[in-house]
Amino acid sequence: MSEQNFDLVVIGAGPGGYVCAIRAAQLGMKVACVEKRETLGGTCLNVGCIPSKALLQASEKFEEASHGLAAFGVKTGKVELDLKAMMGHKDKTVKSNVDGVAYLFKKNKVEWIKGAAKVAGAGKVDVALNAGGTQTLAAKNIVIATGSDVVSIPALPIDEKRIVSSTGALALPDVPKTMVLVGGGVIGLEMGSVWQRLGAKVTVVEFLDRIMPGMDGEVSKQMQRILQKQGMAFKLSTKVTGAKVAAKGVTLTVEPAGGGAAETIDAEIVLVAIGRRPFTDGLGLKESGVALDEKGRIAIDAHYRTNVPGIYAIGDVVVGPMLAHKAEDEGMAVAEILAGQHGHVNYDAIPSVVYTWPEVASVGRTEEQLKADGVAYKIGKFPFTANGRARAQNSTDGFVKILADAATDRVLGVHMVGPSVGELVAEMALAIEFGASSEDIARTCHAHPTLTEAVREAALAVDGRPIHI
Ligand code: FAD
Ligand code: NAI
Repeated sequence: MSEQNFDLVVIGAGPGGYVCAIRAAQLGMKVACVEKRETLGGTCLNVGCIPSKALLQASEKFEEASHGLAAFGVKTGKVELDLKAMMGHKDKTVKSNVDGVAYLFKKNKVEWIKGAAKVAGAGKVDVALNAGGTQTLAAKNIVIATGSDVVSIPALPIDEKRIVSSTGALALPDVPKTMVLVGGGVIGLEMGSVWQRLGAKVTVVEFLDRIMPGMDGEVSKQMQRILQKQGMAFKLSTKVTGAKVAAKGVTLTVEPAGGGAAETIDAEIVLVAIGRRPFTDGLGLKESGVALDEKGRIAIDAHYRTNVPGIYAIGDVVVGPMLAHKAEDEGMAVAEILAGQHGHVNYDAIPSVVYTWPEVASVGRTEEQLKADGVAYKIGKFPFTANGRARAQNSTDGFVKILADAATDRVLGVHMVGPSVGELVAEMALAIEFGASSEDIARTCHAHPTLTEAVREAALAVDGRPIHI
């Protein structure tokens, strides 16, 4: 067994871990990053954000070629799906991203250690190497960035064939005729959109009385209506109590969440997407005395310190939204803190995007949160039906809603449904980061004709003076 010394050992090479490793190396530290997967990039690049967006993009093109182009005067012959080629596009996208991280590790001299890490106390990490054997790493500091894993329920044992997690749903060999999504959250709606566009009849079974529960209520209602128009069926306030798997599909037993008569639904594929859990299996946290919080996440303070000196944690394995950009920002912040700088993440300005069509995007507080916090607010709203560019794109579903403090006019939250709102939200995150008022946005010149004008009009509407409605 060999032992090597580092300033920093990062465990996990997802967006939290790899960004932390690169930033720390930029700041002059000698860094190793241990990853048990054969490729870098974590959940996000391998089986999360990147492959799902590749399939969303590709299936959107199929949908547009099949149903959307004629309205623009573009005639196509019979549009056919080549699922193998579409999966090839996804695989190529993943490969170029994970290879990109390997290149960045080389460029920044981050040592990539392939194996499963176990914390052996402050300053020590034992690695069971993928190639066989073990290695002990000595480190001044350790950052744990081991991410999250799928949550499953006993009634629905995931076999990745008939009952799949998001990982299985990213690699189905054929388009199922019928698909049930258990959970109407982000993964369900994104992966459901992919397979629905490719021809599946999709039904969402959601335990609560609304989809996307964390989102602004108006956004989730509008999105449900739009998805219903696209053909998605919803069974809200419903729970799954059993599943019978056969060769050609699954028979689910469901009943009202509050109790009542059971019914059955048949589906070729069932996707379980009811959330993710922090992943700490095999890390040796108990033995090394690292404390967890009440939800099984690694407990940290405002500087990402665990209760054991020299051990830090970031990303999906700690408190906060399970988002890649949140993990990345924490990775940068903790590296800067370790270098004696003032690394910081503004948790009030973390955008969130659902990549359905139209997209959903938000940043800051929802109306429900402002009401609960007793904050008086003004609303400015503008529909995409009144935006010239959205009309030109034949994509007028949705709106921009800005919530501003009633007394100071400071922007507190922005919630959008509409074309490319996942891009528009960057301006709104910047507004919140800079403490902008809605008046600031209203007075900023926005190019014409762009979708961004809807944002400006919503800002004008906060003060009751939109021009185009
Ligand atoms: P992870 O990316 O989970 O990486 C952790 C890494 O640690 C893994 O590679 C794991 O193998 C490794 N590891 C764990 N234990 C050990 C160990 N003991 N030793 C060595 N290595 C270990 N977020 C977005 O912001 N936008 C999206 O569009 C988006 N889409 C998603 C789609 C899907 C289908 C899924 C599942 C998630 C999506 N997410 C998205 C969430 C996003 O993937 C996560 O928030 C993000 O990956 C968290 O980063 P992380 O670095 O904390 O952990
Ligand atoms: P989620 O938390 O978004 O949604 C889970 C849904 O399942 C909720 O609506 C919940 O009420 C419901 N649910 C819970 N238990 C249930 C049960 N027993 N039966 C029926 N419904 C049940 O979780 P999801 O979709 O699994 O995604 C996990 C995480 O991955 C998200 O929290 C998100 O942070 C991240 N992600 C982000 C994406 C993005 O940013 N675009 C895309 C995909 C995932």
